[in-house]
Amino acid sequence: MLLTHARLASFATSARYGLIEDGAVACDGDRILWAGPMAELPGRFRDSCEMRDLEGRLVTPGLIDCHTHLVFGGHRAREFEMRLDGASYEEIARAGGGIVSTVAATRAASEEELLHGALRRVDAMLAEGVTVIEVKSGYGLDIETELRMLRVARAIPTHRDVTVRTSFLGAHAVPPEFHGDADGYIGTVALPALRAAHAEGLVDAVDGFCEGIAFDASQIARVFDEARVLGLATKLHAEQLSHLGGTALAAEYGALSADHVEYATETDARALARAGSVAVLLPGAFYTLHETQPPPVAAFRRHGVPMALASDCNPGSSPLVSLLMTMNMGCTLFRLTPEEALAGVTTHAARALGLTDRGRIAAGQRADLAIWDVEHPSELAYRIGYNPLSARIHGGRG
Ligand code: NIG
Ligand code: FE
Repeated sequence: MLLTHARLASFATSARYGLIEDGAVACDGDRILWAGPMAELPGRFRDSCEMRDLEGRLVTPGLIDCHTHLVFGGHRAREFEMRLDGASYEEIARAGGGIVSTVAATRAASEEELLHGALRRVDAMLAEGVTVIEVKSGYGLDIETELRMLRVARAIPTHRDVTVRTSFLGAHAVPPEFHGDADGYIGTVALPALRAAHAEGLVDAVDGFCEGIAFDASQIARVFDEARVLGLATKLHAEQLSHLGGTALAAEYGALSADHVEYATETDARALARAGSVAVLLPGAFYTLHETQPPPVAAFRRHGVPMALASDCNPGSSPLVSLLMTMNMGCTLFRLTPEEALAGVTTHAARALGLTDRGRIAAGQRADLAIWDVEHPSELAYRIGYNPLSARIHGGRG
């Protein structure tokens, strides 16, 4: 397949967006063989079997949503109402709502029901050019339901043409049956569930929620130690509502990413930079919970911490399925540049998942591409509630 006369936001050159004017992309099967300016296109690609003249359309890497909880039962619209009546996210959680209420609905749902709900959200994402979705467990909080969530996530690619990466999030909340005994829950459920999920080949990375309403750093460290034993990468919900030391912990374990990070400090930014970890910013949760402290974007820039953006799609803090909207929020709420926003859902999102062959348009990368009816990449973050996708290519198909 040969795409011609395209404007490429390649993220593979030193130009802004890695922009290549009047470019071409040659693919073979699921790989990119060549990408660059039309004028330099090697003759051997000129008679490719499938030629597509894009007439100046923009091509970006396929979008990557690197942080979602999109497998869950039920919804939490009632809590949305309660927050607007004055209750806080933490108050609702401490009163037995919040994550724990989604846990009850998820435990009660069959595999088919969970899959059906997830696919609707997946479809919304694919319609905006998403080619890779990370999905977390964490609404089961018992061994059986944690495994069921991961099986459902792994079943998504048999129903839709998309790549799914799974993160085990057993340390998401303390379920009611372990109320007041977070340590007991970690030892009795989270660690055995992680071992069982790994044995079944269901886990790509291990996540946790380090927060006052969830687990402290020493409890998360027990889970990360097990991840280390199993040879699994780590990532962490850190510093979302308060500063509890999760970011430093993530850096210490060489985590792929620290996510949310609104309350992260300059020292945390330095630690992430040293560890090579990505800061995953989640403006959908910041917006939904009406938070006021934005993440320390200037410090991340100063220390060269790559910033990704993700939907955090979940029924409580971020009922958001649009990565384009997420990019817009990243710019308006966190003052990211449109270039940082696009890098955040492509090249840096790939890195947050440990995927080295995605997120850029360059030879050897997977042929995951999004084709847009826009003139310039800044347009992707600029409009609100408007979808300019023209075509989506996943693994060379589409
Ligand atoms: O990323 N912060 C922890 N987990 C989710 C919220 C999950 C929920 O409220 O159901 C998040 O925001
Ligand atoms: Fe999350």
